Amino acid sequence: MSTNVDHGQWSSRLAFILAATGSAVGLGNVWKFPYIMGENGGGAFVIVYLVCIFAIGIPVMMAEVLIGRRGRQSPGNSVRALALEAKASTKWSLVGWVGLIAGFLILSFYAVIAGWAVSYIFESAAGNFVGASPEKIQTIFNDLQNDSSTLILWTTIVLAVTGLIVGKGLKNGLEKAVTYAMPTMFLLLLIIAGYAAINGDFAQTIRFMFYPDFSKLTFSGVLIALGHAFFTLSLASGAMMIYGAYLPQKTSIAQSVVAIAIADTVIALIAGMAIYPIVFGNGLEATAGPGLVFVSLPIAFGQMWGGIVFGTIFFVMLGFAAFTSAIAMVESAVAWLVERLSFTRGKAALTAVVSLWFVSMLTVFSFTGAEWAKLDFVFVGKHVSNYFELIDHLTADVLLPLGGLATAIFVAWVMQKEAVAQELNVSEKVFSVWYVTLRWFTPIAVLFVFLNLIGLVSFSS
Ligand code: TRP
Repeated sequence: MSTNVDHGQWSSRLAFILAATGSAVGLGNVWKFPYIMGENGGGAFVIVYLVCIFAIGIPVMMAEVLIGRRGRQSPGNSVRALALEAKASTKWSLVGWVGLIAGFLILSFYAVIAGWAVSYIFESAAGNFVGASPEKIQTIFNDLQNDSSTLILWTTIVLAVTGLIVGKGLKNGLEKAVTYAMPTMFLLLLIIAGYAAINGDFAQTIRFMFYPDFSKLTFSGVLIALGHAFFTLSLASGAMMIYGAYLPQKTSIAQSVVAIAIADTVIALIAGMAIYPIVFGNGLEATAGPGLVFVSLPIAFGQMWGGIVFGTIFFVMLGFAAFTSAIAMVESAVAWLVERLSFTRGKAALTAVVSLWFVSMLTVFSFTGAEWAKLDFVFVGKHVSNYFELIDHLTADVLLPLGGLATAIFVAWVMQKEAVAQELNVSEKVFSVWYVTLRWFTPIAVLFVFLNLIGLVSFSS
């Protein structure tokens, strides 16, 4: 079953780092991280999050890139090839499959939210936020979520652009897109951060983000930090395996992964420092939740000098960040279609985004509140009330941690240590620290979190 299609390779180490950082930096950094930090008390949450990134995220990312590069195929087929190499059961290929499916499912709602960001570029540029009351801006946001045709329009645009980029192939599509988009996105983010530092309340932001008040940190905050570390680094969702599959043999996996994780973390922190001064400076709340970027920020931009220009820049930046993630989410499925059905890339990309479009309707109609999209049951420890909540919870809280756990076990317990060491090619000291972490610390930490979620172990907060 595992074909040996040659998918080609990144043209340089930088291309890989840009693409992987592009995958990591997305709505998770700019939309989600600031509001979960706000909801969980700021500084202390930031510290726990950093620990999760460095102690769990980086080791798992190295494992995923390693699997990809040694297997050189789509995630399921790569893991299968490595299982054969280790004389283990080919059932381990499930580890890759779960990733591919998680990436696909995440994109089904990510595309909808990315669509909001793109539509806000136009809302902002048209001056619709200028001088608008908070109620009016809340109404704009509610109307967007309630109107299925508008949501479908933007979701379709996001998926179509994603399909176009991916369909053009590795070098002409993905690589070109990230080479332009990533530096532009970073520059725009710096412009917003500079604007925020000058015009907003920067001092309060620094206090909020870096003064750790551990009394505000709950156990559930720790779980959220771990889950977000997986999400923001695009782990357990196929992306790092497939991007690793295109990595030239001589590139250092460890160095690249550390660079990617640091870039992702720095960008998340800068995003916080771009958003919070504006929020605080206009007397708005840190605890606004998911509406932080789509309601609080537009209110603030509407009151501020240069708000049209800087508000528009902000949403363009968010759009870029979202697209470089979307292409990574669909790439594993595209690579698999090329391997399994011998599709051309164009045909594979079209097939993938059209299927995604149908699945994304589950999220669209969850937001509009359609009767058929409503659910009412407890799924793995959490009550879900529509398909969006089900898919969000299934991926972020179940598939990502379990996928990360399985990846760690596969690389540190199932693969032969020599093969792993050969592929990683680092000093003995670095290798043993990494190997022990992946073998013991990662599985235990993730298992703990997961058992807590399904209520087998419980910690009061
Ligand atoms: N890391 C992305 C973000 O922070 C989200 C994400 C999760 C992702 N899994 C992925 C992106 C897989 C690309 C591929 O927004």
